Amino acid sequence: MSTWIKLTSVLAAAALLVNANPVVSEKRQDTAEHCGQWDVVTYNQYSLLLDQWGKDNAESGQTCASITSASGDSIAWTTTFTWTGTSDTGVKAYPNLQLDDVSGQIGSISSMPTSWSWSLTDASSDIVANIAYDIFTSSTAGGSNEFEIMIWMANYNAGPISYTYNAEGNPTPVAESVSIAGSTWDVYHGSNGSNEVYSFLTSDGSEVTSFDGDAYDFFSYLISDQGFSTSQYLTTFQAGTEQTLGSGTLVTSSYSASIA
Ligand SMILES: *[C@@H]1O[C@H](CO)[C@@H](O)[C@H](O)[C@H]1NC(C)=O
Repeated sequence: MSTWIKLTSVLAAAALLVNANPVVSEKRQDTAEHCGQWDVVTYNQYSLLLDQWGKDNAESGQTCASITSASGDSIAWTTTFTWTGTSDTGVKAYPNLQLDDVSGQIGSISSMPTSWSWSLTDASSDIVANIAYDIFTSSTAGGSNEFEIMIWMANYNAGPISYTYNAEGNPTPVAESVSIAGSTWDVYHGSNGSNEVYSFLTSDGSEVTSFDGDAYDFFSYLISDQGFSTSQYLTTFQAGTEQTLGSGTLVTSSYSASIA
């Protein structure tokens, strides 16, 4: 071994000893809490997006979020929100965990395996929110969003977007009691002005606190039963909480998502 190689290996060993938190991957794990309106924390294939797009419509409040741990394809994160005002002013934020760099035509994707274990704590009595996957598609690769598929894990006094409402003013589903990925869902269809939105809510209102399945099964249903086009391109694959009013803490103890 040459003197030079000896010297460099001694220096490398010394550097490891000195650096108590070595950078082990290209993207260093950032576990700090972030509260900025558009903050983004990236870790490996995922990004945590604060996405407080309706913040200015609240009387006051904010959401903060942090990645709490990550190991392999599994990631844990937490978001705490405190919104005051009224629910009339709409969604204030959708802090979410995004699988980055998704692409491909829906017809060429075969599966979207995902797991999500979560709990909501310290919910206020006036809470209006959901806990949901939000998946977007476009007619061109990387183009602007046209369709939005929401899979609700829980509903706290919120409601899906719908073209039709009953006499009591409640949204009416386009399909009822559809079995997908281990639960039974009612399906709603509407537009929020930007996107055609399909929302899946459990038929009996039960919460899915531990999802482990294939999100593509929801596309398979939309293709076979709702005329959804296989030529649409996947643009965004996110999981988070749409917050309209109130406070709470969503703790995701483990989450994973991938595309095959
Ligand atoms: C509606 O439209 C915006 C785009 O302005 C989109 O980002 C948002 O997620 C939408 N969906 C819902 C369910 O509000």
